[in-house]
Amino acid sequence: MSQFPEDFYWGGAIAANQVEGAWNTDGKQASVSDIMSYKPKLDVTNFNAHHQFTTEKVIAALNDSDIQLYPKRRGIDFYHHYKDDVKLFAEMGFKVLRVSIAWTRLYPTGEESEPNEAGLKFYHSLFDELLSHGIKPLVTLHHYEMPVALALKYNGWQDRRVIGLFTRFCQTCFEQYGQKVKLWLTFNEVDSIIRHPFTTAGVLEDNCGDETFEQACYTALHHQFVAAAIVTRLCHELSEGSKMGCMLTKTMTYPYSSQPEDVAATQIKNLNNMFYSDVQMNGVYPAMMINMLRSRGIEIPLKDDDLEILANNTADFLSFSYYMTRCESVNPDLERTPGNTTLGIKNPYLKSSEWGWQIDPVGLRVSLIELYDRYRKPLFIVENGLGTRDTVTESGHIHDSYRIEYLRSHLIEVKKAISLGVDLMGYTSWGPIDLISAANSQVTKRYGFIHVDLDDMGNGTGVRRKKDSFEWYKEVIRTNGSNLE
Ligand code: BG6
Repeated sequence: MSQFPEDFYWGGAIAANQVEGAWNTDGKQASVSDIMSYKPKLDVTNFNAHHQFTTEKVIAALNDSDIQLYPKRRGIDFYHHYKDDVKLFAEMGFKVLRVSIAWTRLYPTGEESEPNEAGLKFYHSLFDELLSHGIKPLVTLHHYEMPVALALKYNGWQDRRVIGLFTRFCQTCFEQYGQKVKLWLTFNEVDSIIRHPFTTAGVLEDNCGDETFEQACYTALHHQFVAAAIVTRLCHELSEGSKMGCMLTKTMTYPYSSQPEDVAATQIKNLNNMFYSDVQMNGVYPAMMINMLRSRGIEIPLKDDDLEILANNTADFLSFSYYMTRCESVNPDLERTPGNTTLGIKNPYLKSSEWGWQIDPVGLRVSLIELYDRYRKPLFIVENGLGTRDTVTESGHIHDSYRIEYLRSHLIEVKKAISLGVDLMGYTSWGPIDLISAANSQVTKRYGFIHVDLDDMGNGTGVRRKKDSFEWYKEVIRTNGSNLE
């Protein structure tokens, strides 16, 4: 097979916290992302310093009403513009749109006894709008959107009781939307807990009780694994014909040289990366990882029938994000470059984006083949794209040939993987409309086919404009990828 399958899910991916805005409207309360401030000059060599939070820092942010400093609170106002935006996605021919449901719209503090009606209504309207245009929703249940209230009260996912609260939120989602949504994802980039534990799991450095901060992160991770397995079972029970995927940041690492020590160090990096999907796809903790964690004094807090729950409720498919690759070496003097919330050794064969992320289309083919060979279950690329600045010409055009080239070169590699037999369900490019970037909270790091007239401070009309890539992607979808070469 040298073509994309006929029923291939072409589309785009967004997340509630990066587009909706309206952070305290209609009963919604703050999520962890609403307290992430604008950081255009994020020092990635010390990424953790920016993403480890204390109670004091969170409370200060909650009391700070400066909307400019917290861009995710305003997003691109998708909450009020979704109908027009969905119309543009439909014009491109989208078959699927990946969105997330903000936990805080349905359960503002995570502990209400009844869901918030206005929140329920919003997502009903969004899904109805999508379906009326023939676009299927692919819904992430947890995309950096935990209620801040749960972070403060329970130290987020470190507390096992959060499993029950999240399960109840998911049950509401399945009962409410199970007829409209048949494609689901549990945790966005579940592995990101070790890179930004607060946004991924609400873990606060100063609130870990008897556990060290690192142990608290792995405790929280275990609770997320168990929760993902429980809601996978629930989804199958409550939403007939639904498929539940897990989601990994695919961070492919190459040995910088063929020196065996470089290869060995790289192997560990890649094992670490796939540890998360190993648990969710195979239903068991890999013994080697358990040993590696143990050698650092970390234990997985297994309880009761956790192992059985994991084993019996694996994900139906593996979805992943793919933006860049990096190298590894034992040589400490090599130049490093940022990636997606990571830092890696620079690859002399690759170019980088303005944000330092190394552009590597072939690495996507390698990743697809590696993941399919490892798990033998369908894959879904749910994020891929180029975040960069765009210029609007005097006549109001945006000539983003660089974005077309990035996406085209990656899709050609996807096609090669499919022709080898990789079972790929779909491709949703990240940020089909400009949105607030996750790490820096910038809108000027643009990913979209659709430009949004806003700057980093939120100034602008918010008007949507089609970039050159809009027509290009429309044609890719229309021809089912046969125009790529
Ligand atoms: C992924 C996240 O890791 O990367 C998205 O799931 C995020 O939420 C995307 O937006 C790109 O990263 P950034 O920092 O450029 O927005």
